[in-house]
Amino acid sequence: MGFFLPSAFAEPVDSETGRDIFYKHCKACHGGKGDGKTFAANVLNPTPKNFTHEESKKELTEKRMIESVTKGRKGTAMMPWESNLTKDEISAVVSYIRKVLM
Ligand code: HEC
Repeated sequence: MGFFLPSAFAEPVDSETGRDIFYKHCKACHGGKGDGKTFAANVLNPTPKNFTHEESKKELTEKRMIESVTKGRKGTAMMPWESNLTKDEISAVVSYIRKVLM
């Protein structure tokens, strides 16, 4: 692009973006429905979070999810995404999970 745009004019990151990010980066482990029933889950310990489970709905606040996606979960396959995704992208994918999958 070669020119600077103040962030106020940056493209809004919407739920479609959240879905794209989820399909691209998260689906392999968490599954298209977010239930964590994936091939990858067979070899992961702990297993990927099942977002559709009642426990997850209670346990996972938006704040915690953003924190976990940003920083990862120590000692698990859930890696930190802060160097791959912007803050807006992380909150877009978290709100996609919350609105559509949970
Ligand atoms: C390589 C497999 C893998 C990929 C890819 C992956 N995750 Fe995870 N994710 C995990 C595992 C394993 C856990 C369970 C961690 C635990 O038990 O603490 C987890 C847990 C989570 C949690 C719950 C964390 C918590 O606080 O308990 C969220 C939210 C999450 N993932 C979001 C995402 C998002 C968003 C992406 C894509 C940007 C993603 N994950 C990509 C494996 C993965």
